Amino acid sequence: MIELPASELARIDRLLAGGQRRLLGLVGAPGSGKSTLAQALLDALPPGRAQVVPMDGFHLANVELRRLGRADRKGAPDTFDSAGYVALLRRLREQREEIVYAPEFRREIEEPIAGAIAVLPQTQLVITEGNYLLLDEGAWAGAAPLLDEAWYVDVDDELRRERLIRRHEQFGRSRDAAIAWVENTDEPNARRIAATRSRAQHVIRIDD
Ligand SMILES: Nc1ncnc2c1ncn2[C@@H]1O[C@H](COP(=O)(O)OP(=O)(O)OP(=O)(O)O)[C@@H](O)[C@H]1O
Ligand SMILES: [Mg+2]
Repeated sequence: MIELPASELARIDRLLAGGQRRLLGLVGAPGSGKSTLAQALLDALPPGRAQVVPMDGFHLANVELRRLGRADRKGAPDTFDSAGYVALLRRLREQREEIVYAPEFRREIEEPIAGAIAVLPQTQLVITEGNYLLLDEGAWAGAAPLLDEAWYVDVDDELRRERLIRRHEQFGRSRDAAIAWVENTDEPNARRIAATRSRAQHVIRIDD
């Protein structure tokens, strides 16, 4: 569990003060705690006020990654449907009358599931979280301008790597395979993400 600083909640109150729907982006390296923070924010807000729309719902399916020859670097920027993600953000901003459905990534099967997350017309805050929200390459470059605010989730690198290894083990990899995946796949991605940190409006540091 994480303790949410009052200053972060006050920031959200300010963001929502105008009454319109707002999009908050949480960005950070693999394992930095984005999903955990997004859930903590959701729990801290009144029921129905916010919904979490994770970027990792836009992972390409394994069958498509194999077709493209990219299965061994799942998690890299070109292993997501980045244009689809940006189109969904645009749709969420428009806040039309209907429910907008978002996909969700399921770690147990390592595949996204379409239509898993419902964003209701009255949802005021959409919290979208992921690795490449601030990347200035290809279709990803269209994401940042659609966010009302982006927070960079910062954490001690050693702690982050240890958590990632543990999570890979929990989802079935041996310790050696988990370490190899973190070093060869997660860490190159982490460096690209760290390079986008200066584009965030706010940095939140979580080290406990
Ligand atoms: N404050 C915390 N204290 C202890 N464990 C934490 C904390 N935050 C996250 N974790 C753990 O660290 C791991 C990574 O956290 P989380 O899944 O939230 O990161 P993420 O940034 O969403 O990762 P990814 O980029 O891979 O989706 C998880 O196993 C989670 O339970
Ligand atoms: Mg996550």
